[in-house]
Amino acid sequence: MKILVIHGPNLNLLGQREPETYGVITLEQINNELSDLAQKNNIEIEFFQSNIEGELVTKIQSAGLRNFSGVIINPAAYTHTSVAIRDAISAIKTPVIEVHISNVYKREDFRHKSLTVSVCKGQICGFGAQSYKLALQAFLNE
Ligand code: DQA
Repeated sequence: MKILVIHGPNLNLLGQREPETYGVITLEQINNELSDLAQKNNIEIEFFQSNIEGELVTKIQSAGLRNFSGVIINPAAYTHTSVAIRDAISAIKTPVIEVHISNVYKREDFRHKSLTVSVCKGQICGFGAQSYKLALQAFLNE
């Protein structure tokens, strides 16, 4: 099994960015914890972060071509705005799980709408950095 984890804009700043909302864990620490979990379960995992919408679209497309079993994506702010990311997810056959660190439904109204979730297998949000591990676990349980 091979899983791709995609992190959207501003997630490179985790650790320093609004710690009251996103905690103090860095992106590197999140990726390391996911790598450990993947290794324990004998699966391959790859990571990608970009602040650029088109780069995220290209990466999602590549997951469809490169035989990944699943994609875990935190589209971050693009969740609420990006038809292009939604269409890229919709264009690939690979199952995609949407993840959020914070519980977006407890926050501002503009975060309550996800353009991407309806083309994803499911969504996990509000469990802090653990949301990513829960998504990986969901793929492992299949
Ligand atoms: C986020 C929630 C989004 O609304 C926000 O724009 C982010 C992070 C989360 O992980 O909680 O950048 O996706």
